[in-house]
Amino acid sequence: MENKRLYIAMVGLPARGKSTIATKLKESLVHESVKARIFNNGDLRRKTIRENTSYAGFFDSNNSEGVAIREQIALTNMERAQKFLNGDGNVAILDASNISRDRRERIQSRLNDHPILFIECVNNNEEILSASILRKIDLAEFGHLTREEAIKGFRKRISSYQSIEEPLERERNYIKLDSLHNRVMKEELSDRIPYYEQIRDFLVTNTVKNLYLIRHGESRYNTEDRIGGDSDLTEKGLAQAGALANYFKKKKIPLIFTSQKKRTQQTASPIKEAQEDCTIIPLAEFDEINSGICECMSYKKIRAQMPQVYAERKKDKYNYVYPEGEGYATMQERINRGIKKALYLSNPSDNIMIVGHRAVNRMILSHFMFRREEDVPFIYIPQDKFYYICTTQNKKHFQLKKFK
Ligand code: F6P
Repeated sequence: MENKRLYIAMVGLPARGKSTIATKLKESLVHESVKARIFNNGDLRRKTIRENTSYAGFFDSNNSEGVAIREQIALTNMERAQKFLNGDGNVAILDASNISRDRRERIQSRLNDHPILFIECVNNNEEILSASILRKIDLAEFGHLTREEAIKGFRKRISSYQSIEEPLERERNYIKLDSLHNRVMKEELSDRIPYYEQIRDFLVTNTVKNLYLIRHGESRYNTEDRIGGDSDLTEKGLAQAGALANYFKKKKIPLIFTSQKKRTQQTASPIKEAQEDCTIIPLAEFDEINSGICECMSYKKIRAQMPQVYAERKKDKYNYVYPEGEGYATMQERINRGIKKALYLSNPSDNIMIVGHRAVNRMILSHFMFRREEDVPFIYIPQDKFYYICTTQNKKHFQLKKFK
């Protein structure tokens, strides 16, 4: 059998999703029996340099000592990657910012025995960047700083990289990826790149491992059969939240994504409390369908007072748009945006939890599990069970589970 060998070098400013993509890509290749390994400069720096190197000045391009240390680390990883491919390895992934042309030229001249594919991760969404920075400063190396100091320092580090950033264009082989939307923005290939189809396909695929999709517990409006609004959980709803907390306390849930509504946050709150380290991130993208002029009405009242609304929605529930509100079809774009944000902010090995609403959860489920449009508004979304979802390139798994 032909022995295929490839270097991949990640490119991108800090907190752009490089390591997440590198890790998932490696897992996906390994699953296909490709021997892949990651060589991460940040990890090597943290392991080998005793003094604290998390301060922003260390990354300043005018700090010759910092530059020399970082170049030495980059070189060590290049040597290790080369050794790996000269042994039985197939794909060596260099995970670092590799933001300057100089650095990339050094990579190309040093690693000239096999083709190199540069993968650049681009994402300039400020909201996502802020949330990613919060995740980064959780690292032990920032432990001695206050939250504000750590954020400021990390932003300064990003600026240092920005000051030496040079676009990919002279490199022989590269893919520029919008890492939030899994979209290839530009690609250039001069060499034959082994595993290219597999890699490219992976980059544009949405995968999720261990997603727990939960509907909020019973709300006051639920008991009155009223839609929308922002009512609190009932006693029964709070008990459901408590049971969820108990069920999930043995699993590690670092992030819970909710909507901005009280009922989802009140459901998430006891789950968070039962965890050692967990953050709730409310996203407007996961707010329940806006039923416009029907907000806060009961289905019975809508039928009696607005028979045309009732009849038209019944005719085509998926495409129907509430006057001054939304429909399932028009929610799709924002729901997809919310899913992208949640996946982007989670580490590849993390369990992910979303606490949403009936219509929202139908849309989230149908994002991962194919359902005909006309069936989506009828997907079963109970309040005493949750969906467990795992969809990778190699596996698709959906399960409705009881939590008590
Ligand atoms: O009744 C709860 C609820 O979440 C409402 O807020 C929302 O309008 C409705 O479910 C969505 O379900 P359907 O599309 O079946 O009316």
